[in-house]
Amino acid sequence: MSDIRARRTATRMPISNEKTPLAPATERYRRTPPPPRRPTRSLSLSISLLILLGFVLYAQRRGKSGVSYSFDGKALPDWYALCSKEGKKVYTVPEEGGLGAVECVVVGNKEVAGSGSLARVRRRWGDKHEPTGQSGRRRGVPIIFLPPGHTLTPGFVDSHAHPLQYGHTRQLQLQGSRSIREIIERVETFVNGASLPRGAWVEGMGWDQNLWPVKEFPTAADLEASPVLAGLPIALARIDVHAEWVSPAVLDLMGELPDHVEGGQIVRYPNGSATGVFLDNAIDLINAVRPPWTDTQREAFLERMTKDGLSKGLTGVQDAQVPLEDAIFFKRMADKGKLGMRFYSMINCEDREAYCGDQIEKVHGAADGRLTIQAVKLFADGALGSRGAALLEDYADKPGWSGFLLNREETWEPLMRKWYENGWQVNVHTIGDKANHVVLNAIEKILGPNESRTAGRFRLEHAQIMRLDDITRAANLGVIGSYQPTHATSDMWYAEDRLGSDRIKGAYAWRTYLEHGGRITLGSDFPVESIDPLKGYYAAVTRLAEDGTSPHGPGGWYPEQKLTREEALRGFTVEPAQASFSNSTGSLTPGKRFDAVLWDDDLLEVDQEEMLDVRVVATIIDGKIVWGGIKSG
Ligand SMILES: *[C@@H]1O[C@H](CO)[C@@H](O)[C@H](O)[C@H]1NC(C)=O
Ligand SMILES: *[C@@H]1O[C@H](CO)[C@@H](O)[C@H](O)[C@H]1NC(C)=O
Ligand SMILES: *[C@@H]1O[C@H](CO)[C@@H](O)[C@H](O)[C@H]1NC(C)=O
Ligand SMILES: [Zn+2]
Repeated sequence: MSDIRARRTATRMPISNEKTPLAPATERYRRTPPPPRRPTRSLSLSISLLILLGFVLYAQRRGKSGVSYSFDGKALPDWYALCSKEGKKVYTVPEEGGLGAVECVVVGNKEVAGSGSLARVRRRWGDKHEPTGQSGRRRGVPIIFLPPGHTLTPGFVDSHAHPLQYGHTRQLQLQGSRSIREIIERVETFVNGASLPRGAWVEGMGWDQNLWPVKEFPTAADLEASPVLAGLPIALARIDVHAEWVSPAVLDLMGELPDHVEGGQIVRYPNGSATGVFLDNAIDLINAVRPPWTDTQREAFLERMTKDGLSKGLTGVQDAQVPLEDAIFFKRMADKGKLGMRFYSMINCEDREAYCGDQIEKVHGAADGRLTIQAVKLFADGALGSRGAALLEDYADKPGWSGFLLNREETWEPLMRKWYENGWQVNVHTIGDKANHVVLNAIEKILGPNESRTAGRFRLEHAQIMRLDDITRAANLGVIGSYQPTHATSDMWYAEDRLGSDRIKGAYAWRTYLEHGGRITLGSDFPVESIDPLKGYYAAVTRLAEDGTSPHGPGGWYPEQKLTREEALRGFTVEPAQASFSNSTGSLTPGKRFDAVLWDDDLLEVDQEEMLDVRVVATIIDGKIVWGGIKSG
């Protein structure tokens, strides 16, 4: 990717703002003059006509959507202004709040240099402006007009996702499978087409037993029943990656299994044999025998994710689970200039209860702001779908069962304190109300009465099910709620069965969090959900499935929790920046890097039914087009 970037830079041509000479058009006209009837009058008439025609042609050339900029063709100049002719269609999304709608934004050398009305930009940056830091040569800032109907926003950032896993799971996708039979067929098709080396694992992701006729976990025997798959090592992760289903060949590799796994579960037959499904911490038993990724694989996974993400308007991803060996890989990619967007890594240690912050150096904006490693991701519990979320009271649909914490309650405060005191941002996976409660207790103790509430920017990753008094407490402690709107619309069909009508009030309760003065940041958890942030934006503002349905009808599921479009836009732009200590991204205000998305419609105004059809036309990072293109309107 660095090669492509280098080539792009080399072929970048400054576009000239000088007037197009009139001569060629005039000459062409002269070659076929109309036959003169009254020489003197017609001569002056022709000259007038020629001049008029020249001006018309010139005006057309200037005004026409003539100039195209794209990542593989003509690149944008170092200085330019992007302006709308249709009013305030550039949303700068400033830190202090609001949309910051303006007509124009001016970009100079990667950064936003200014913004405002077209008239203001013409006055301050027009032909006679002399940008600072240049050679002193007088030059203007070319104005590129957005095509009709288009809008510009800051680049979208996914606050919680798994980039390498995304690339990995693109190989064999099981999402939406309606039966075990369908999954077996998809895996067979993959195996038949993949020419896997001997001993290589077949790994896929995305099954969900809640979509099957019999909503029960599958077994290793189901895989062995296929003649194509028999004998192969196969590991298939559930859609939420909190459960994994393996084949008998993998069970053989795992050998003797422990009777009990703290914070996890080995699903067993009544006779005690493992069925082949492992939950939460028990997945570590599979990890112990799973072949590690090579850097070649990692690079392919990252490239796939970057390509798909840029095409959807993502300019940054906050990586919610980065083992140390992956962090080292990211550093290497940064050093080689091979990061195609910005990454914010939350590291995690092999041993969940350990501090490993001394085994890696923090990274602050390496590769010109493409990589930061200064956060840790801890895991308090599992997920709601597999009933691994730790609840304060029993599941409504499974009396006697309340899920489980992955680490004992008393471990949380010392573990989080250790990370915090060593300068790491502490982001904890908390789904169930018990997980959220226990982690908030720890944060409350760590912050004590005098510590700055917002210095640590502690984050609850998912913050999915919370007691209402814990939402208030989190907001007061300055804890950021890191929500995934599409989780709500995926889970809304069964969440209330699991939680009952009372607890559901504090579930996926983004607006309640905001109303108590808390800050929220938005993401997707891809590959668990789609990489397309527009789907998250839509889910946040509608609380509807993509087909416009919900358990509460077309008005949305618990519609009082809907975000406004402005809040959702902030949740994918300026809030992720704040939640990752970045003061150089997230807004199109002066001094920030120009990371932006050109949309073919207006996300603030488009009809709800049309929202998911809005397309990314161009994605820009550091002022350069990295996906798509702009045809000046
Ligand atoms: C336990 O039960 C399962 C399912 O009935 C069977 O496949 C397996 O062979 C049994 N294991 C032992 C050790 O008997
Ligand atoms: C907090 O500040 C108060 C007032 O300045 C002081 O009396 C108290 O000892 C401090 N507490 C801690 C834990 O530092
Ligand atoms: C961001 O913070 C750094 C360090 O505090 C400062 O030097 C820089 O000017 C800030 N940038 C912006 C755009 O505020
Ligand atoms: Zn996640």
